[in-house]
Amino acid sequence: MSNEIKILGFSGSLRKKSFNSAALRAARELMPPGAILEIADLSMIPFFNEDLETEGVPQVVFDFNKKIADADALLIATPEYNYSIPPVLKNALDWASRGANKPLDGKPTAIMSASPGMFGGARAQYHLRQVCVVLNLQPLNKPEVFIMSADKKFDADGNLTDEYTRGAITKLLQALIDKVNK
Ligand SMILES: Cc1cc2nc3c(=O)[nH]c(=O)nc-3n(C[C@H](O)[C@H](O)[C@H](O)COP(=O)(O)O)c2cc1C
Repeated sequence: MSNEIKILGFSGSLRKKSFNSAALRAARELMPPGAILEIADLSMIPFFNEDLETEGVPQVVFDFNKKIADADALLIATPEYNYSIPPVLKNALDWASRGANKPLDGKPTAIMSASPGMFGGARAQYHLRQVCVVLNLQPLNKPEVFIMSADKKFDADGNLTDEYTRGAITKLLQALIDKVNK
C-alpha cells in the first residue's frame, strides 16, 4: 500500500476562469513530495433537497462523499460572495454532512480564498470556519492564505505568477501534511 498522502481539493467557484480553481491547480503543482492533490468537480452536484435523499442519494453525491472518505485531508478554495461562502460550496458540504457515514468528521482541512478585492476572501473564510465547527472538520488555523488582488496574481491562462502567494500556498500544504502525519 502506498504511504502517499491523499488530499482532496475543491473550489467553490464553477467559473471557467475562477481564481480559486486556479489556486487549487497551483497547489497541485506546488505539492511537496509524498502527497498528491485530486481536484473534485462540484458542478454536477444538485441542490440539496431532502426529497432527493428519500429517492436515493444521487450517484454524483455518493462519489463525492467517497472521495472525501478516501482522502487523508481536504483543501478548500473558496470565493467570497456577499461576505460569505458561495452556495456551490455550502451545498456540497451540506450533502456531505448527511447520512450515517459522516465523511467530513475529523478531516484535517486547509482553507484558502482568492478575490480581486483587498481582503482576499477573508470574510468568507471565517464563515467557512464557523461551518467547520458543526461538521467537525479540523481546519488549520495557520497559515491563513488570503489571495487578495487575485486578478493581478494569475496570468491569462490561470497560472499563479505571484511568488509570495506561491510560497504561502506551499507553506499551507506543508502544514496540512504535518497535521496528517501527527
Ligand atoms: C454574487 C457575488 C458576490 C460577491 N461578493 C463579494 C464579496 O463580498 N467580497 C469580495 O471580495 N468579492 C465578492 N465578489 C467578487 C468575487 O470575489 C469575484 O467574482 C471572484 O473572482 C470570484 O471567485 P472566482 O474567481 O474563483 O470565481 C462577489 C461576486 C459575486 C458573483
